[in-house]
Amino acid sequence: MSNEGSALRQVLFGVGIGVAIGASLSLAASITTQQKPSIRRDHSKLARPIELRSGEVRDGVTGLIGNTPLIRIKSLSDALGVTILAKAELLNPGGSVKDRVALRIIQDAEQLGLLVPNTGSRIFEGTVGSTGISIATVARARGYDTTIIMPDDVATEKVKALEALGATVERVRPVSIVDKKQYVNLARKAALEFGTSSQLNASDASRGASDIPPFVSTSELAVAPANSKSPSAARGFFADQFENKSNYDAHFEGTGPEIWSQTNGHVDAFISGAGTGGTIAGVGRYLKSMSETTRVVLADPQGSGLCNKVRYGVLFDEAEREGTKRRHQVDTVVEGIGINRLTQNINLALPIIDDAFRISDAEAVSMARYLVQHDGLFLGSSSACNLVACVKLVKKMGWCNGERVVTIMCDSGTRHYSKFWNDDYLRQNDIPIQASIVEEMLGSPANGHTHKLEG
Ligand SMILES: Cc1ncc(COP(=O)(O)O)c(C=O)c1O
Repeated sequence: MSNEGSALRQVLFGVGIGVAIGASLSLAASITTQQKPSIRRDHSKLARPIELRSGEVRDGVTGLIGNTPLIRIKSLSDALGVTILAKAELLNPGGSVKDRVALRIIQDAEQLGLLVPNTGSRIFEGTVGSTGISIATVARARGYDTTIIMPDDVATEKVKALEALGATVERVRPVSIVDKKQYVNLARKAALEFGTSSQLNASDASRGASDIPPFVSTSELAVAPANSKSPSAARGFFADQFENKSNYDAHFEGTGPEIWSQTNGHVDAFISGAGTGGTIAGVGRYLKSMSETTRVVLADPQGSGLCNKVRYGVLFDEAEREGTKRRHQVDTVVEGIGINRLTQNINLALPIIDDAFRISDAEAVSMARYLVQHDGLFLGSSSACNLVACVKLVKKMGWCNGERVVTIMCDSGTRHYSKFWNDDYLRQNDIPIQASIVEEMLGSPANGHTHKLEG
């Protein structure tokens, strides 16, 4: 064969291969496009809020806070015929939704001149754990020390994380908020005692909108030593997540707009639990301000009185009536949400909450196990509560046509090994571990009997 003929054959062979590869790639691309769920097709038309930009470098650990992904929960969405979307707040560097709040509280205090980095100042907070870990993380990054006062019955892994972050941890007996020894009251007192009682007088009254109840002024909570009002003096600062408006602002200006953008402004319902009320108030009010028809729904663990407050106007849980209460505070294995008093942040949320569901410990445990089994999602207890409430809302509304329900994955299961993810602990506390509860809730009874939907 001539050299010319051989060269021509090689060219034709090359073109043939090229056409074949091109055709199969475009076929694959068209199959992939067809199989993509509609949420992803919508998304591609918009500027994406989360992307890797070449040359972009975040500034330290606080640069990693927020801008979290939104994921479709495949198992629940497919089973219900709706789109359940969950904001992955557990991917924040401190491991929870509370990173945003810690950052905002500290930034606002710095802006008001109440905290100055690297002055030996110390931030105090009363918390069941997650907020403490977030404050300790941000405080370290910004040049402050931290003291965290927490009830002594929360999962011990949170204490270990706090100690690893260099926080001083005080664990106290859980008592009612009216008791001076309640952990939030003790944190306030410790902050005041860190210096002396010579409070700063800066006013931040202008920060509240007209329908928002007045907040405890952040400035009232910072204390300078008696012998010095200089900015470089060490101060004690009470973060006060329950009453501090920075908590709400972090969600109204951060989490809410992110969800709006990630869903292309299409949210039929937003569901969240309330610990301080900051998330549901901030995100709920932002979404309602963008679309009045978005339903804002509370996921309330057993033992918390908020569900009844939303439904009937009375802050009360049936465990009180039954006399079966085991714990001094909210009587549930779920940590981080549920409360039996009204805080400023909860007061902001109550007027915009459309509905509420009481979630039993058994339901939350079941959901957590179900999501590991079906989706490989290893979530903490408040996230599990949120997702049970998503299912209850969808069932109650009779939704099955792709309606979009958005919720929060607050933290991961790794924060809950010793209680919520500890089968022995659950058995000792008579909390059933049955994945079938969720299966039945979704409408596919596993063993014939039907789980009565609570709430
Ligand atoms: C794990 C976890 N999930 C949810 C929440 C509730 O968030 P919020 O305080 O905004 O109501 C908290 C609050 O501490 C929490 O720690």
